[in-house]
Amino acid sequence: MTEDDKKALEGLFVNSQAFLPPRFFYNSLGGLLFEAITRLEEYTPTKDELSIFQNRIREIKKILPSDICLIDLGAGNCSKAEKILPEVCPEVFLAVDLPSKFFRNSVTRLKNSLRNQKIYALEKDFTSGLFLSEIARIVGDAIYHLDKVLFFPGSTIGNYSPIDAKNFLMSIDHDSIIIGVDLIKPEREMISAYDDSLGVTAAFNKNALLHANALLGTDFEVGNWSHKAIYNSSKSRIEMHLVAKSTHPVSSPFGKRVFSKGESIHTENSHKYSLESFKNLLLGSGYVDIYDFLHPSNRYGVFVAKRNKQS
Ligand code: AVI
Repeated sequence: MTEDDKKALEGLFVNSQAFLPPRFFYNSLGGLLFEAITRLEEYTPTKDELSIFQNRIREIKKILPSDICLIDLGAGNCSKAEKILPEVCPEVFLAVDLPSKFFRNSVTRLKNSLRNQKIYALEKDFTSGLFLSEIARIVGDAIYHLDKVLFFPGSTIGNYSPIDAKNFLMSIDHDSIIIGVDLIKPEREMISAYDDSLGVTAAFNKNALLHANALLGTDFEVGNWSHKAIYNSSKSRIEMHLVAKSTHPVSSPFGKRVFSKGESIHTENSHKYSLESFKNLLLGSGYVDIYDFLHPSNRYGVFVAKRNKQS
């Protein structure tokens, strides 16, 4: 068991408010469920972002430096990269994601569809940072002559608290960023995006328990838990929880915990920003020359910014 898995067990069995990190959503079934979420009518970020890229990628390209290595954090099925690469034409494209067959197959598909593009893959949990030396090991010394542009779409930044987001962005070696973020909208819309009528997000949330059972040796029973999504307005975030339907014990290799009826496991935060508050986050993280590309509905924004080398 890894150190991170031990920490996850502690979060579940020792913390008074139980917490399971969002990485437990993403086993192979979780990846498919997430893809299904992005197609739901209620979940707008992915569709809004795609339309921004479709309509404004030429303007975005103009702002970027000319010889770049585009680094796609959390590339997943590589579908976003496939849409923007023919327009952005980086010297080098590096897809980064957790090791999985799904990711390897996606990169192979991308290589087959864009044969003239230099494409590399790095299988890594990028949440622990990304250094130039690691990129050079995959891409070669060419990296030292290119501007490194982070591509961080999908509002994944929203899954970090604002302070963690800042620390995370500062832990990655890069020169510029293209980043997508979900914006604050009417509460009803935000909640239904995380509690959809088909119950796909509920399945996505509960599947984290099955993944925990496989990785941590726990014995959660999915039927004992219900899905809950709330908007915490003081922290501008959607919170996902799993709530115990009845008082029952759960065991792990390090002992058991009795969850009382109504007690919850907090599984995810998804922070929402205003145009102003996200620009401030970028400024506070050492970026300058910030450009925004908003969806006409004002529900979603893509931001392009440069790292301030002086900071
Ligand atoms: C990956 N991440 C940006 C998604 C989000 O909206 O926070 C994960 C998700 N959770 C529930 N629905 C989608």
